Amino acid sequence: MQDYHVFLEEILIPAEELQTRIAELGMEISKDYHGKNLHMICILRGGVMFLADLMRHVTLPHTIDFMAVSSYGTGARQSTGQVRIALDLKEDIHDRDVLLVEDIVDSGYTITSVLEFLATRHPRSLQVCTLLDKAERREVDVPIHYRGFVIPNKFVFGYGLDLDEYYRNLPFIGTVNPDKYQPPE
Ligand code: IMP
Ligand code: MG
Repeated sequence: MQDYHVFLEEILIPAEELQTRIAELGMEISKDYHGKNLHMICILRGGVMFLADLMRHVTLPHTIDFMAVSSYGTGARQSTGQVRIALDLKEDIHDRDVLLVEDIVDSGYTITSVLEFLATRHPRSLQVCTLLDKAERREVDVPIHYRGFVIPNKFVFGYGLDLDEYYRNLPFIGTVNPDKYQPPE
């Protein structure tokens, strides 16, 4: 596996900047969900780091759950529309104030499918919190209630986001130089 320094084009969002913004989002969510039954749902696997850091800044009692989806057509860097539920929630969301926590909204197809799926289970409310918004690439309109950063149309990695499943552990968001990156065999 390559050392990320080889293909890192630039550090788009340094670790400290991520943490500062996540603390702000946590405060906002704590204020808005006062008196509600906050249930944060994280989409595996990209959203894991974000959820873990975000929940440390949510000062209200709340619960969490996880789900996983896969886009049709594996290996593709772009989603094509419908997604398949690869791992369902553990708990019922009926009457809960659901906040969907995502790493990135790109075309918007993933989040749209997940919202449709969750709505069929009648949560009391349903909102979206995404760390990154690649707004330029949007193909379907998505309601985003909490947004960490709007980023340019570049492939990014780190802080939960992967490059062929690796490099999720890095504490910053970086962009890839495609001429230098070699995918694993
Ligand atoms: P969408 O359905 O096009 O909005 O794509 C959303 C999903 O694609 C995200 O949840 C990510 O898993 C993946 N994705 C989109 N852009 C990037 C990127 O720049 N780096 C890593 N993963 C990405
Ligand atoms: Mg994701």
